[in-house]
Amino acid sequence: MVEESVVQRGLQDVVALESRICFIDGRGGRLIYQGYDIRDLAARSSFEEVAYLLWYGQLPSARQLHDLRQRLGELRTLPRPVLDVLDRIPADSHPMDVLRTAVSALAVFEPGESRPGESSIGGALRLTAVIPTILGYFHRRRTGAPPLTVNPELSHAAWILHALRDSPPTDLEVRALDVALILHADHELNASTFAARVTASTLSDLYSAITSAIGTLKGPLHGGANERVMELLAEAGNVDRIEAVVRDKLAKHERIMGFGHRVYKVEDPRATILRDWSRRVGEAKGDLTYFQLLRRLEDVVHAEKGLYPNVDLYSGSVYSLMGIPKDLFTPIFAASRVAGWTAHVLEEYQDLRLIRPMAQYIGPTDLTYVPIEQRPD
Ligand code: ACO
Repeated sequence: MVEESVVQRGLQDVVALESRICFIDGRGGRLIYQGYDIRDLAARSSFEEVAYLLWYGQLPSARQLHDLRQRLGELRTLPRPVLDVLDRIPADSHPMDVLRTAVSALAVFEPGESRPGESSIGGALRLTAVIPTILGYFHRRRTGAPPLTVNPELSHAAWILHALRDSPPTDLEVRALDVALILHADHELNASTFAARVTASTLSDLYSAITSAIGTLKGPLHGGANERVMELLAEAGNVDRIEAVVRDKLAKHERIMGFGHRVYKVEDPRATILRDWSRRVGEAKGDLTYFQLLRRLEDVVHAEKGLYPNVDLYSGSVYSLMGIPKDLFTPIFAASRVAGWTAHVLEEYQDLRLIRPMAQYIGPTDLTYVPIEQRPD
């Protein structure tokens, strides 16, 4: 007789561990990193400062921030064997597959950085520094653009834009991306962070944990949603067609990407901030088309389903206005979330407990084995 227990599908509402890194107030619509409200950080901080905060649990001094920026800059170069791996990847591969493969390859060539334990901060810095290089190297090769020259002086946001584009970014573009990176840097036990912590909880290495996380972030119900939002806008084409497109999708029981959230019951505070940045970047470019389409989409989805926007609704419009192709949206998410993933893995190593839930078995237990030659065709 199998004992019955309550099944929490999707682990919904299950509190799996204690963490000091991030708090989501799903009813109040607040997001806190190590005690600091995301709205303050988005208004006043930088990605590097937030990464330091996530890793060390406190804001850096000016000297500590300077040192962190310098180390990130120095760690941007990829070893030749990883570049060789990237050279062999088909040019039509999805950049998330490329990223997953490159991080996994890096683990083989830099095993020391990846070792489990508190010293993994070196690996956290290395992965954070190198992800834009991986993306830029691959993207330039597939588009035939001039090869990437590593620039150790740039901020993380400016380095990402430098790696992915030929035209120098404006200050507004760098700040818009910096804010997007701050907003994406952590989000408690989301699916990819959970995947990273599950891997780390077996005392596996940091790079394996981040490889798990990248594979998990790729899915359209998680990081891949902003790509799909832009596809919906393209499908609608103009504001007047949004309602028909949404209704058609809902009639077919399809989800509208960029809406709904497992934890937020009100508007995702990251969506509020990115909405403003979508408008600001649109105004600077003299093109508010995406902004107007998204506003209409919000109205229609709220009227039809009562759903609020999540972080993925407006991020794609900001990146598109910067000339970034949509298959790089989720990789940019990873270029930020790597700070949170690695912070969680470090925390897991310090308070290790194998993560191993149970399944409620619903199959039979008393079948008789039939030899293959006696089984019907
Ligand atoms: N479009 C249409 N209906 C939706 C949506 C949506 N975006 N989100 C939720 N619903 C509906 C569901 O169909 C379900 O309705 P039902 O009870 O009539 O069947 C109800 O709302 C509850 O949905 P669940 O799937 O149970 O809620 P869950 O907490 O599992 O979903 C999720 C959260 C996966 C994010 C969901 O809202 C979704 O699929 N959104 C679209 C994908 C997306 O934007 N993902 C990005 C999330 S943010 C991030 O990961 C960075």
